[in-house]
Amino acid sequence: MIEVWLPVANLANQWFNSNMERKTKILGMAGSLRKGSYNRSALRAAVSLVPETAVVEVVEIGNLPLFNQDLEQNLPPQVKEFKEKIKAADAILFVTPEYNYSVPGVLKNAIDWASRPYTDNSWKEKPVAIMSASTGMLGGVRAQYHLRQMFIFLNMYPINRPEVIIAKAQEKFDEKGNLIDEETKKRIRELLETLIIWKKRLRQ
Ligand code: FNR
Repeated sequence: MIEVWLPVANLANQWFNSNMERKTKILGMAGSLRKGSYNRSALRAAVSLVPETAVVEVVEIGNLPLFNQDLEQNLPPQVKEFKEKIKAADAILFVTPEYNYSVPGVLKNAIDWASRPYTDNSWKEKPVAIMSASTGMLGGVRAQYHLRQMFIFLNMYPINRPEVIIAKAQEKFDEKGNLIDEETKKRIRELLETLIIWKKRLRQ
């Protein structure tokens, strides 16, 4: 009797586990602190466009102190908390403007903090996706390439496509910061779907 029921119980268990799989946790952060920021708006759009199998949690990086290597063996509490959030996340989403053809200092500061101390790089092996928005024609793409360069040393695993590059952002959001461009919504959805699949592949 037991011999018959054990495989059935195992199957039921497998079905239960696959259907009860917890949601993928994506930690999102914006590289602009501006209240009316298009990038913050794009991140909010990602929170609402993410597939049901995942959640996008937003973490603020504006409260982090300026990086100081003297403090890396005794990290400030905000940095410790930030690093814990990254470690607990399944994947990372950076949403950033381009400042002077590169990554804004506020985002670089956050990246540097969480990469330290050297033996405790919180970004290590995290799947990651990028979006950028700019009022210009190129949508902040140069900041994306500088991020990709950082991912090499950080040992993060970026997805390559789709690229979410929101050019002329003032035409894609309304005055309340709602994303009103359908093509951009579609791309953000695709980006998040790809990130979720990528994360699962990496786990195998
Ligand atoms: C910019 N901006 C900008 N845009 C761009 O496409 N390439 C660039 O190199 C820069 N450089 C730059 C430097 C600084 C210091 C600022 C403040 C702005 C314009 C930028 O894309 C625009 O202000 C965006 O609206 C900023 O993003 P948020 O704040 O709307 O998310």
